[in-house]
Amino acid sequence: HIFDDSEKASKAVAHEIGALIRQHNQDKKPTVLGLATGSSPKKVYQELIRLHKEEGLSFKNVHTFNLDEYYPMEPDSVQSYTRFMKEQLFDHVDIPVTNYHIPNGTLAYDKIPEFCRDYEEKIEKLGGFDFYLLGIGRNGHIGFNEPGSIITSKTRLMTLDILTKIDAAIDFGGLEKVPKKAITLGIDKIMNAKRIVLLAWGEHKAESVARAVEGPVTSEIPASYLQQHPNTTFILDETAASLL
Ligand code: GLP
Repeated sequence: HIFDDSEKASKAVAHEIGALIRQHNQDKKPTVLGLATGSSPKKVYQELIRLHKEEGLSFKNVHTFNLDEYYPMEPDSVQSYTRFMKEQLFDHVDIPVTNYHIPNGTLAYDKIPEFCRDYEEKIEKLGGFDFYLLGIGRNGHIGFNEPGSIITSKTRLMTLDILTKIDAAIDFGGLEKVPKKAITLGIDKIMNAKRIVLLAWGEHKAESVARAVEGPVTSEIPASYLQQHPNTTFILDETAASLL
């Protein structure tokens, strides 16, 4: 779905998420959302906050699981995805603190596999994702599932791709300061979501979007796996769609 600009597109996505939450609230069922960080979803979160403040949308029964976090990473660091999510969304809506989950960047190295299994179990106990909101990296990654990730990949510690580190360098004040690793939700759990929406804005995303949508399904472009998902929409602005 190609929109004139990311503002209109983000509002449409927020309204879809808002309608889903309202429906579940009415049916007295929880809503399980998968969320992403980065610049792409920011305006969606702004609109969700507006829906909460001005139109009474309640997040009391919403459970969220974020895609990823750098490793190692302290939750109050400027680059932390925990801090990002609190600032961009959680601190401004009525979601209970116990309902949102973000991979823990402070774990001891040998505790990571157990944490990852537990993260997936929590998602399974809630019945899996009703909706997953994704961004895309310039190398076609989703979350930190870098090129080479298989479709059945589980939540795990990932070594970051060079292009990912180059794109993150500005946030860390230099390439050598970017963490070498990150914890990411696996492709498997993302593919099990009932509905997936991937956001991409800007010309710098045009190539990975075109390869993901029109190229072969390949581990080299993990977002291309979404071609095999029955209910995925890529939400693009004109420039991100320019190579389609
Ligand atoms: C990061 C994150 C991804 C995100 C991607 C795109 O690498 N790990 O989850 O989707 O970058 O970021 P942006 O939206 O800032 O372009």
